[in-house]
Amino acid sequence: MHTGTVLVTGANRGLGLEFARQYAADGWRVIACCRSPGDAPALKKLGRKVEIHALDVASQDSIQHLAKALKGTPIDVLINNAGLHADRRAFGETDVALWKTILAVNTIAPVQVLAALLENVAFSAQKKVVNISSKVGSIGDGPSGGSYAYRTSKTALNMAMVNAAHELRNHGITILLLHPGWVQTDMGGPNATVSIEQSITGMRRVIDKATQAETGHFYDYAGRQIPW
Ligand SMILES: NC(=O)c1ccc[n+]([C@@H]2O[C@H](COP(=O)([O-])OP(=O)(O)OC[C@H]3O[C@@H](n4cnc5c(N)ncnc54)[C@H](OP(=O)(O)O)[C@@H]3O)[C@@H](O)[C@H]2O)c1
Repeated sequence: MHTGTVLVTGANRGLGLEFARQYAADGWRVIACCRSPGDAPALKKLGRKVEIHALDVASQDSIQHLAKALKGTPIDVLINNAGLHADRRAFGETDVALWKTILAVNTIAPVQVLAALLENVAFSAQKKVVNISSKVGSIGDGPSGGSYAYRTSKTALNMAMVNAAHELRNHGITILLLHPGWVQTDMGGPNATVSIEQSITGMRRVIDKATQAETGHFYDYAGRQIPW
């Protein structure tokens, strides 16, 4: 496997924390971002290989502050992982304010984070951008009802990043959309079928193998392609 510098958003718990743990264990420089660095005990326990930075992805000021702090730092792999579910309601029951918040975090923020850190990625050796999407945002996979805010936020994330993959092709950047599986995190809940370690090990393998020919593709953690 390659090594380099990886930046992970939402790194204080769940999938983001395990990305930070595994990459650090393999000798990567890890830039771990979370909303409250002062309240991230699990991240701090990973030790000095992991640099912790404050980032609320829903705040443009916070994104710009991070970009300023990282100016000139190449980022080989940028992982837009931070995400919000919080709305499994049925048709007609959606809380509109919450829907807007979910779109801000899951759809708009990854685009804004990439825009702010584009030079960092473009000047790195590997030039990879990974967006943690979800199979529930797939239209082709056959939606089964509910979760309007979350589903639409991930469908729109997919479109935004495939669009960016086309536009940024001549920067040599590889943009991926990944479905982590149904994973045993706070979001996935205890009945989920995939362990955190299994999901991250699988996604890291997919990321490591990806070439620029795959930019704009949508895979699950086992490397299986998912229909849009
Ligand atoms: N678990 C699953 O089954 C599953 C399936 C498909 C896709 N996903 C996707 O995988 C990603 C990670 O999910 P997870 O299961 O690890 O969820 P999780 O355990 O609920 O963790 C979510 C992470 O996102 C962070 N976050 C939320 N809003 C943020 C904001 N405004 N700024 C910065 N960080 C923010 C949280 O930080 P705080 O601690 O500060 O809230 C937390 O670190 C998400 O994009 C999710 O949609 C998960």
